[in-house]
Amino acid sequence: MKATILKLDDQGRGICYVNNKITFVSHTLPNEEVDLELIKENSKYQIGKVKEIIKASPNRLKSLCPYYEQCGGCQLLHTSYEETLKFKENKIKDILNKFADININSISITPSPNFHYRNKITLKISAGKYGYYSEDSHTLIPITKCLLVKEEINNFIPHIGEFNIQNGQIIIRSNYNQELLIAITSTDSITIPQNLTKYKVAGIVHNGKTIYGSNSFIEILNKKFFEISYDSFFQINNDITSIILDTIKKQIPTNQIVLDLYCGVGLLGIGTYNNNKKLYGIEIIPNAILNAIKNSKMNKIPNVYYHLGDVSKIIAKINDQIDIVIVDPPRRGLDQKTINTILNIQPNQIIYMSCDPITLARDLKILKEKYKIESIQAFDMFPYTYHVESVCLLKLR
Ligand SMILES: C[S@@+](CC[C@H](N)C(=O)[O-])C[C@H]1O[C@@H](n2cnc3c(N)ncnc32)[C@H](O)[C@@H]1O
Repeated sequence: MKATILKLDDQGRGICYVNNKITFVSHTLPNEEVDLELIKENSKYQIGKVKEIIKASPNRLKSLCPYYEQCGGCQLLHTSYEETLKFKENKIKDILNKFADININSISITPSPNFHYRNKITLKISAGKYGYYSEDSHTLIPITKCLLVKEEINNFIPHIGEFNIQNGQIIIRSNYNQELLIAITSTDSITIPQNLTKYKVAGIVHNGKTIYGSNSFIEILNKKFFEISYDSFFQINNDITSIILDTIKKQIPTNQIVLDLYCGVGLLGIGTYNNNKKLYGIEIIPNAILNAIKNSKMNKIPNVYYHLGDVSKIIAKINDQIDIVIVDPPRRGLDQKTINTILNIQPNQIIYMSCDPITLARDLKILKEKYKIESIQAFDMFPYTYHVESVCLLKLR
């Protein structure tokens, strides 16, 4: 059936109407005329799949990725990079307007300096084959490389078969020195491949147990050193993270007491350190907080207090006059208890880094009662996907 794409939704899918029902169609662009088949239908919406593009948008490009049609990893490889940036700027603007009543004329997005940006890949393994899951399903799309990951990770992918894993998951990370840190989750007993020295493998961890080398490696960003364990979070795109660290650092005056919530390995607090009076951090993953403690020592940051645990429970126990709170929560954003405690602490500034504009908007709607939104900046942490990172500076009214 034929339809005209009206606009993109916030997941980068084209929106059209078929039989008067809203229909989402991946890999399409506004104003395109398409012939589609319906692959899912429920009472509220339909999902369509393109059979043929009848009239293509002038912004359409041929995707450089051979897996793009089946793989669910990227959503915007069929258009120019400039168009993906415009999509993300409008997405943040619309969501802030719709969910938080925040009206900004335009929001500027800092492009990613690099397209082979991912320092980590997570591949599923099924019946000895490895790859990504297809969009909205658990069908494995076998791959031998991914356009978005760093070269040293791509070079290693063809060797995954040598581990003899039948079913499970493999995560490969790389650092500034092209070293690889590999984490495997599988009930199979695995073989350690020969020739690992050729690939600078820093360590292999199987179900949490180190079976080769170390369970962590060192990353260097903005001249700071960060130990990262196999199960610690680290931002995926080093080049844009480096720009974000510079941006946040400019927002932190010297001599402040800073609280870094959801601190991971201490990246934001340590990476933006500006002769603070004190630095506190809270993180729930044990290895990550151990990394953060070590990282503060490696970078010679004085007066640091890291706490392991759930932010919502630990934050109220910090008995100090905090000047600046940095928050960088997971996609689900802040919970009500944490927001209430931050409002009680009454820091002069809150710096909210977010990877999900919808939960950011939900939380800003509450915080803006007591805090003025000084700036919102967007950063293209995840090129060619619908995801976007933002940093919002709030000042106490
Ligand atoms: C988006 S990451 C940010 C990490 C760090 N700020 C960085 O930039 O590398 C979110 C972090 O929050 C941690 N986390 C998730 N839920 C948490 C909770 N309830 N309490 C404390 N930390 C949590 C995760 O383990 C992860 O390290």
